[in-house]
Amino acid sequence: MSEQKRTGKLIDFENVSVSFKQRKKVTEAVRDVTFSINEGEIIGIIGSSGAGKSTLLRTINRLQTVSSGRVTVEGKSIGELKSGELRKLRSNIGMIFQHFNLIGSKDVYSNIEFVLLENGKTKEEAGKRIDELLKYVGIEDKKHSYPAQLSGGQKQRVAIARALANNAKILLCDEPTSALDTETTEAVLNLLKQINRELNITIVLITHELDVVKEICDRVVVMDEGRVVEIGDVYDVFTRPGSEFTKTLIRKENRFVIPSNVLENAQGKIVRIDYFDENAERALIAEAIEEFGVRINILHGRIEFIKKKPVGVLYISINGEPVQTRDALKYIRKNSGKMEVIRDA
Ligand SMILES: Nc1ncnc2c1ncn2[C@@H]1O[C@H](COP(=O)(O)OP(=O)(O)O)[C@@H](O)[C@H]1O
Ligand SMILES: [Mg+2]
Repeated sequence: MSEQKRTGKLIDFENVSVSFKQRKKVTEAVRDVTFSINEGEIIGIIGSSGAGKSTLLRTINRLQTVSSGRVTVEGKSIGELKSGELRKLRSNIGMIFQHFNLIGSKDVYSNIEFVLLENGKTKEEAGKRIDELLKYVGIEDKKHSYPAQLSGGQKQRVAIARALANNAKILLCDEPTSALDTETTEAVLNLLKQINRELNITIVLITHELDVVKEICDRVVVMDEGRVVEIGDVYDVFTRPGSEFTKTLIRKENRFVIPSNVLENAQGKIVRIDYFDENAERALIAEAIEEFGVRINILHGRIEFIKKKPVGVLYISINGEPVQTRDALKYIRKNSGKMEVIRDA
């Protein structure tokens, strides 16, 4: 068990396209997707509903065949695997879903046992492994409960245990927390982080919750209409989105506006400052006041952390002599991530 993240390509998409033909209608669900997933990383996939995220994810274990292009896992082109090899590959790739996909008529034990037996384990070996797994995911006491008797978080833990049963190296997660409340989401994300770190399992995670990506992903892929429109380090993509689509997606989720009464009551120019990277930790406002002798009031603000790095938004009003005010604004613009004059009074 390595605690260190190894790097190197684990999964490769090369010009992958998937289209569905139904009667006369053709849906191009995935269009010419090329990128790699590194061993040991947690990579998120975001985008609107229908963007092709699930379809792309399912090409990794060949639950979905590609129409063109190639998917390779550990250098093996999976489209060319024979059935025995495919079975082996699939046993190394666990998958979890929004609605858990547990078998309702089986208890927790049997829900996990069957994947172990299918993979050639004896009943006894399976029993040992199940105890180990349930302990790891923290639900040893639910061994003989049925899915209907479990909370959402507990069900997802069973699903995770089952996905890892055959020592998976890759865990595919399709909206794993979308059916969970905030607190449970947090707990499941912590478990996923732990799995990634302790077992060096590569995690590919689809979500529509940007907070999930900010919290656990190393990199993020943004999909729109079947295409990858952006890929990068999570902090970079959220602070400096490159594509218009990503900008819109982030803005929609992250609307942070100044209350209108605050805006009405404030005097002078009103400015919104977005700051990140080294700028987020600067005493920019204090510097501007000292340097230019302007009066600055902080009207509204927030700071959040993405991968432990700060990202801030601040609304200020600024008053003073026109020249000083102009220079102070210039100074703030230069030293913040982004500055926008909301009201130029
Ligand atoms: N089995 C299928 N048959 C026909 N169309 C499908 C099938 N699976 C997905 N699609 C279509 O492909 C597009 C992408 O779907 P999907 O990958 O599920 O998107 P996402 O997961 O991003 O919401 C959608 O237009 C969807 O309706
Ligand atoms: Mg989907």
